[in-house]
Amino acid sequence: CTSSILILKMKQFASLVLFGTLAALAVVRGADDQEISYEYHRYEELGKALVSVWLQCPSITRIYTIGESFEGRELLVLEISDNPGVHEPGEPEFKYIGNMHGNEAVGRELIIYLAQYLCNQYQQDNETIIDLVHNTRIHLMPSMNPDGFEKAASQSGEIRDWFVGRSNAQGVDLNRNFPDLDRIIYINEREGGANNHLLQNMKKAVDENTKLAPETKAVIHWIMDIPFVLSANLHGGDVVANYPYDETRTDSAHEYSASPDDVVFKSLARAYSMYNPVMSDPHRAPCRKTDDDTSFTDGITNGGAWYSVPGGMQDFNYLSSNCFEITLELSCDKFPSEDALKTYWEQNRNSLVSYIEQVHRGVKGFVRDLQGNPISNASISVEGINHDLTTANDGDYWRLLAPGNYKVAASAPGYLTVIKKVAVAFSPATRVDFELESLVERKEEEKEELMDWWKMMSETLNF
Ligand SMILES: *[C@@H]1O[C@H](CO)[C@@H](O)[C@H](O)[C@H]1NC(C)=O
Ligand SMILES: *[C@@H]1O[C@H](CO)[C@@H](O)[C@H](O)[C@H]1NC(C)=O
Ligand SMILES: [Zn+2]
Repeated sequence: CTSSILILKMKQFASLVLFGTLAALAVVRGADDQEISYEYHRYEELGKALVSVWLQCPSITRIYTIGESFEGRELLVLEISDNPGVHEPGEPEFKYIGNMHGNEAVGRELIIYLAQYLCNQYQQDNETIIDLVHNTRIHLMPSMNPDGFEKAASQSGEIRDWFVGRSNAQGVDLNRNFPDLDRIIYINEREGGANNHLLQNMKKAVDENTKLAPETKAVIHWIMDIPFVLSANLHGGDVVANYPYDETRTDSAHEYSASPDDVVFKSLARAYSMYNPVMSDPHRAPCRKTDDDTSFTDGITNGGAWYSVPGGMQDFNYLSSNCFEITLELSCDKFPSEDALKTYWEQNRNSLVSYIEQVHRGVKGFVRDLQGNPISNASISVEGINHDLTTANDGDYWRLLAPGNYKVAASAPGYLTVIKKVAVAFSPATRVDFELESLVERKEEEKEELMDWWKMMSETLNF
């Protein structure tokens, strides 16, 4: 126990030293550097780029690390929020993760440019961006696989190998390395069982699992610790927005694999693809002549219908937490030449912003008891959708839904369930709060009612 605290302290110290060094370097470069530089950022440059955003917009940003890669590089995150470092009750949290496959480099760069763009626009009083930053806690992780990226970027010449740097430094494909919760949900669908949070009370098992890469473990903890509502995972090698499930029910290589939230996921994926003129172009030629794009419609595809992926991060988010994640394929070339980066940014900028805005859809609110105390870990269920969510520590919840009429229920052990009818428009989210009466209170009330009745009867009958 003491040794783990010591390790934690040392880690914090190491991070401070890292940020100190990076900050010093960035100060030399100048904090008012507002131009987005459309170039590749190696590990050190990535750190400097994030620090320069932080120095330019210190009141709305924070840099933190969720852990280290196998070779000891930090898994850096830039947070953008009007209150960096804290979860504000009722405010939804969002994340972008890039470069999980180290050789898929476009997403890594777009996330850095997005950080610079949001900071610049905020400073330039752009109302859309100010609203977004004030009402959302945004987490940006440009690289989940910094070791793989360094390997891919170190190749000489313009032409990069299709696979070099894809895996982490141990040779693990991180997007096949997550606990395969699809297998569990497919059994539960048939035989009954939990329909959400399938890793509940298994944190220890995750920590002790030697098959999980350090990058995977760090991200699992991140997903479990922060009440994320929405996320995207940025890849390259094709151009499409891919939504759950990624793994097929029957082990077939290609099969449409709808999740209970199929309608919502299609709508979310569409909110990305529709603003990207290349992704949504119905006449776009496949990246390679041999590619099978038959499952693509309007720039989106179901994961399983395209090809089955067991152990992926996208399905893991949905099945282990409240977070809905999609996978974005941003470019035919995984590691295009530097002079193409500006074009990719222009193709994706509006999509990247639009997708964050989707976090403000559906139903949201608080679950409390009759005294106004928050009830955390209460269940939120929607009739007809076999996937419940849970409330966060402040009793707050966010239930993404497509437009329509719904019956939403809030329940918790020891309380009476409350069901409400809710009309949901495209956006913003409809606010619905729940007040749950505890069963103990209900029993007391019933006792009082019974006493009143006896009193009335005895007075009437005069005994
Ligand atoms: C403000 O930001 C939005 C979202 O990125 C963008 O569409 C719009 O053009 C920006 N407005 C200005 C004046 O730059
Ligand atoms: C949350 O609630 C579920 C079901 O009511 C329970 O199994 C689980 O242990 C709870 N989790 C926590 C962290 O309290
Ligand atoms: Zn990939």
